[in-house]
Amino acid sequence: MSRIELKNINKHFGDNHVLKGIDFVIEDGDFMTLLGPSGCGKTTTLRVITGLENPEGGIVTIGGKEVVNGENKYYAPPAKRDLNLVFQSYALWPHMTVYENVAFGLTVKKFPKNEIRQKVEAALDKLQILPYIDRYPSELSGGQQQRVSIARAIVTEPKILLLDEPLSNLDAKLRLEMRSELKRLHNELNTTIIYVTHDQVEALTLSTKIAVFFEGELVQLDEPRNIYRNPADLRVADFVGNPQINLIDAFCSYKDGSLLTESVIGKLSVPTTKSYEGECVMALYPEDIQIFEQRRADATKCTVYSVLPAGSETLMQLTMDDETVILAKYMGEKDYEIGSSLWIKISSDKINVYDKNSGKIIAEKESYEELNGRVLA
Ligand SMILES: Nc1ncnc2c1ncn2[C@@H]1O[C@H](COP(=O)(O)OP(=O)(O)OP(=O)(O)O)[C@@H](O)[C@H]1O
Ligand SMILES: [Mg+2]
Repeated sequence: MSRIELKNINKHFGDNHVLKGIDFVIEDGDFMTLLGPSGCGKTTTLRVITGLENPEGGIVTIGGKEVVNGENKYYAPPAKRDLNLVFQSYALWPHMTVYENVAFGLTVKKFPKNEIRQKVEAALDKLQILPYIDRYPSELSGGQQQRVSIARAIVTEPKILLLDEPLSNLDAKLRLEMRSELKRLHNELNTTIIYVTHDQVEALTLSTKIAVFFEGELVQLDEPRNIYRNPADLRVADFVGNPQINLIDAFCSYKDGSLLTESVIGKLSVPTTKSYEGECVMALYPEDIQIFEQRRADATKCTVYSVLPAGSETLMQLTMDDETVILAKYMGEKDYEIGSSLWIKISSDKINVYDKNSGKIIAEKESYEELNGRVLA
């Protein structure tokens, strides 16, 4: 019973409206990530769930029990909500050793001493900090302190775990290892996890669901694959791409179930369920661009602006006319001379089309379920 529901949560700090009618449900066993740029309200949302901030409006229920009712000014105290939170800042107790910090929750729950030692050592080992068991927090690096705070949160095997940027201070290699430990942990314990990050790759890697926030609004909530394939608006598209998604201005007309777009990459016909005419923006991932070294009638000529090798893949910036730069990704190693010509082809089923004024999606690619259904069929 660890379903969490937020209904129409509104929170102000003075005149600053930081949460604007947030609605979402985190089902039992979900790994839900709150994703968005700095200052969009991710930490505040976690603090509202835990009871460290009180919203003026809205309802929060945890396991079917109301813990916040803004209208009635009812706020259950944090200790009564049975949640485990790892803060963006680690908040370790400075006067306690690593062992004592991690053991604290188990000591409070009156576990036998030998069982406590065994659990604490196992958690520290998992997070690769067992050698520091007798040190004080001030004797650890930021990344080590961060891992102690994760160990402290997981050692009690909580039903609900809230993690606010728990890997932000780790180097790239350790961050990857900790991501897989967190994913395994979620699997093993079936804990409901609410995870905060502004790292889109981390969100796509770990989550069962992603909630994307901008300026205090929940803009899209979906499975990671659908967030990636069909971002609901231009801000999400721009934010989730890695490397960055291409956004290409176009003019669009509608005919017989298709949008006809005209832009620097030529004319395309994109299937749609909505009719739309006017200025639009096409979004296209670098990996969805086909590159040819020879002229082809069905491809558009472009010029190599720069080549950026990245180990297993090569990124290329290509110019289409004087101003439009397109980022293309080639899986493998390639080297082209700057200024040389290439031809690119874009297939219309790889493109999402957005209304330039509202930023909202008009034509989207097939959702993951549809695609998956067809592949399986
Ligand atoms: N205690 C506070 N008093 C006043 N304003 C606050 C307070 N806490 C947060 N804010 C403001 O609320 C907004 C949302 O902050 P929040 O910490 O939730 O952002 P965030 O998405 O977690 O950002 P980051 O990725 O930088 O951690 C910001 O504009 C922030 O300045
Ligand atoms: Mg934050």
